[in-house]
Amino acid sequence: MGRATKVVLAYSGGVDTSVCIPYLKQEWGVEEVITLAADLGQGDELEPIREKALKSGASESLVADAKESFVKDYAFCALQANALYENRYPLSTALARPLIAKLLVEAAEKYGADAVAHGCTGKGNDQVRFDVAIAALNPNLKVLAPAREWGMSREETIAYGERFGIPSPVKKSSPYSIDRNLLGRSIEAGVLEDPWTEPLEEVYAMTKAIADTPDEPEYVEIGFEKGIPIALNGENIAPVALIDRLNQLAGNHGVGRIDMLENRLVGIKSREIYETPALLVLIAAHRDLESLTLTADVTHYKRGIEETYSQMIYNGLWYSPLKAALDAFVQKTQERVSGTVRVKLFKGNAAIVGRKSDNSLYSTSLATYGADDLFDHKAAEGFIYVWGLPTRIWSQQIRS
Ligand code: ARG
Repeated sequence: MGRATKVVLAYSGGVDTSVCIPYLKQEWGVEEVITLAADLGQGDELEPIREKALKSGASESLVADAKESFVKDYAFCALQANALYENRYPLSTALARPLIAKLLVEAAEKYGADAVAHGCTGKGNDQVRFDVAIAALNPNLKVLAPAREWGMSREETIAYGERFGIPSPVKKSSPYSIDRNLLGRSIEAGVLEDPWTEPLEEVYAMTKAIADTPDEPEYVEIGFEKGIPIALNGENIAPVALIDRLNQLAGNHGVGRIDMLENRLVGIKSREIYETPALLVLIAAHRDLESLTLTADVTHYKRGIEETYSQMIYNGLWYSPLKAALDAFVQKTQERVSGTVRVKLFKGNAAIVGRKSDNSLYSTSLATYGADDLFDHKAAEGFIYVWGLPTRIWSQQIRS
């Protein structure tokens, strides 16, 4: 008896997930491996990947174009929460995991599989995100993670694959570990493991070096409807195209690079480079529009919610009751977050230089220092007396 009979495996076409196919069958007694490759805009051709899975021993090779759902159901929810892990990382890799988990579970249910599998190792966050998301969506499914247990080095993995007709990688493999999708690129390992070492220009693919960016700024106007970006420069644009276009616009001006040392859930500090041009611009613009359309108390309270929300995405709790409750809060706050934000892209910066909204709470007659000022200056005096009363009493007390 093996660990499972029929397994749906998350498949990327790389060596590790390819080797998972014979490994599951030979070592763990799985009878049938169905692979599932999700297109999240990583730029790989899907047909060769589909064929490679079959050549590697899969009984069925599924591909799913999940780009639209990725943006609408995952990235835009995170955007509404201005989600930045440790204040910097917009979760471009992390957001893909609950979606892939959902696709795996749906396929397992459709094909009557008793387990799903992924190629994550035991040191990262992604294994946690997959395992917990799958448990949330279908607690009866087993989750197999061969690469977490097989203990093979890269060379041994390639050699194992060759025994089962899996070709060793043709290109000299990159010195980095790279995860890429529509939202961005995550780059780690190699020389980047020394946190003191500056990344070489070669690690970047979506953003230009400042030396190569245009010498003229470029303006982009982003239109939002209830916290969702719907237009660029006055024209409505579909979600996937919007992200694509904004990645190009911002990346061309060197916007979107992050070099950070982050705390993984499994306790390890790791150094990661990110390129996420569109997401960073969108979060800055969205936050600004919130400043214009939300009351002060909602804006301030939401900051705490955003912090928790970001941690939950990072820590694999996308499908959890607390996350669902926070979603309800965030959605409620977005009802009036509609309007346009003007962004100036120049030499690595995305500066917000204008914002407007039919729901604006900004009042020129209250804010102005000019002659048409309507603010009641006299009222400030009484307010300050009452506001400062506890401090005044405290001060008198400690002096008596
Ligand atoms: N550290 C990021 C996260 O946990 C990215 C992980 C994948 N990175 C990579 N270079 N393969 O979401």
